[in-house]
Amino acid sequence: MEKIVSLCKRRGFIFQSSEIYGGLNGCWDYGPLGVELKRNLKNYWWRVMVHERDDVVGMDGAILMNRAVWKASGHEDTFSDPMVDCLLTGKRFRADQIDEQSGWVVSFSGAVDFEAFQKLQQEKEAPERSSIWSEIELAPHLRGIFANYSSSFDLDSRSGYVQLSDPNGQMKSLELLIKRGTLGTSSLQPFLAMEIGGDPKSFRWSSNRGVNRAIKLAQDFYRKRGVTNPIVIAVGVQREEHSKRFNPENGALLTGPRAFNLMFKTYVGATEDDSSVTYLRPETAQSIFVQFKNVLEVSRKKLPFGIAQIGKAFRNEINPRNFTFRSREFEQMELEYFCRAEEGMKLLDYWLEERLKFYESIGIPPAKVHARKVPDEERAFYSKGTYDIEYDFPFGRQEVEGVAYRTDYDLSQHQKASGKSLEYFDEETKQRFLPHVVEPSAGVDRSVLALICEAYSEDEAPDEKGKMEMRVVLRFHPRIAPIKCAVFPLLKNKEPLVTKAKEIVALLRPHMHVFYDETGAIGRRYRRQDEIGTPFGVTVDFETLGEKNPDLRDTVTLRDRDSMKQERVTLKDLPGILVSRIS
Ligand code: GAP
Repeated sequence: MEKIVSLCKRRGFIFQSSEIYGGLNGCWDYGPLGVELKRNLKNYWWRVMVHERDDVVGMDGAILMNRAVWKASGHEDTFSDPMVDCLLTGKRFRADQIDEQSGWVVSFSGAVDFEAFQKLQQEKEAPERSSIWSEIELAPHLRGIFANYSSSFDLDSRSGYVQLSDPNGQMKSLELLIKRGTLGTSSLQPFLAMEIGGDPKSFRWSSNRGVNRAIKLAQDFYRKRGVTNPIVIAVGVQREEHSKRFNPENGALLTGPRAFNLMFKTYVGATEDDSSVTYLRPETAQSIFVQFKNVLEVSRKKLPFGIAQIGKAFRNEINPRNFTFRSREFEQMELEYFCRAEEGMKLLDYWLEERLKFYESIGIPPAKVHARKVPDEERAFYSKGTYDIEYDFPFGRQEVEGVAYRTDYDLSQHQKASGKSLEYFDEETKQRFLPHVVEPSAGVDRSVLALICEAYSEDEAPDEKGKMEMRVVLRFHPRIAPIKCAVFPLLKNKEPLVTKAKEIVALLRPHMHVFYDETGAIGRRYRRQDEIGTPFGVTVDFETLGEKNPDLRDTVTLRDRDSMKQERVTLKDLPGILVSRIS
């Protein structure tokens, strides 16, 4: 994945958004090659899903919609992920994405100040000379605490831990002393920390390298809460297996899960109060549902038929990660395919098959794409069946598209909330009813990432002197490759070669995205194009000019990126050959 991310930046596919200001987490910019790749993908999706079908029309809705849409769709109340925060660092995680950890968990009931505690301990040796130890009502409490505990103090860092032998009784005494201010700055906030891993057979409080990691965490925790030199009070230790309660990065306790709405809130107009609130859309689908009636009327389609849309969506993801895979701003390619209720399940299977074919047709082999039937407990309550289409990314098998049978849930919600009929009138049966819908919803950015991951490969190719060297190739399907063909004059200082090459560029440009390159040795130029996935290279040499053999005048070599084979083709045939291979 690191190699892919670095290639993407180096060759201009994808950059971090606002990079010169340190970036903006979860947002990405597509560079000159990335934008071509993305457009090719979207255009091909549009071709297959809209232009090549009689039963689908397109639309392009606004990103901002009336807040009532998000209330009716359920997004305002329920479009949330459970989130948890690390009690030590404040880092936020999605509760359902925490990796399980096993280890020793130490419970702490608070922390007291090192200096004050040490002073009391020293005074224990001569209680009659101590103003605190000689207080009659305090002395039993002090003896209770100081008589029986294990501890370790570190004079350099002025910190340590105390492990109480009778937590219940001793804590009461500590509380009393804390209330009186006898123990200096202190905290009684409970905390748990896990020593991740650790020796599963026994727990060691300290070693010659210092205190246990869980104690160290607790000391940092209480320092952050104002106890500058903390002696942490440990009241128990136990082994936990496969726990999701701790920060996998450090072992500190996480808060309990809280719902976090993923929609970005914004205000429309000059006033910023509740009356002007709306959201950046978290999916493109809702504008299709709310325009269903308008599109139906103008397109005069009969059921089953679909409305397709490609556009931006925004989600304030808790943990954007895996490069562009989970972003806060991304694009979706969605089809809402309206049908009669009785056709829903059949069409769900139909669209799953269509969509699987699509991935194969853009160069992702079926062996790397998987349909996962989403189990009942994971499915949205209104869906009668959902499949996730997953791809084997380098970071694991992950969803690129969802195909869901959403029943008539969305249309009925909007009909109820708006008071406007969204029913379909069947001319033949003279019946009115709300259509059901099957929705294939694909992520543009995730598909682009899958295409790049799939295309990335390393092999060997001969350099100028015939010596084999490592070659990075992006083996994009020609149909989605950012640049289709590169044109090279063999030598840049031979004017007739350059002129001819530029003529060929002009010949091909109306049909495809072409790149002209005259700098460097020809092998280097091929290599540069291999690295960005250009499937074809055309070289203009002296034979093209007819200098060696008049029969070869107006012919060029056409090189294939993957096989590295070269064929001689006439200029007359060149556009047709290339167009047939890239369409
Ligand atoms: N209208 C249905 C819907 O939005 P979804 O499963 O939440 O369903 C559909 O999203 C697709 O959108 C996903 O399969 C994924 O490809 C893409 N997607 C969702 N959240 C994303 C994110 N944070 N970053 C990139 N792509 C995302």
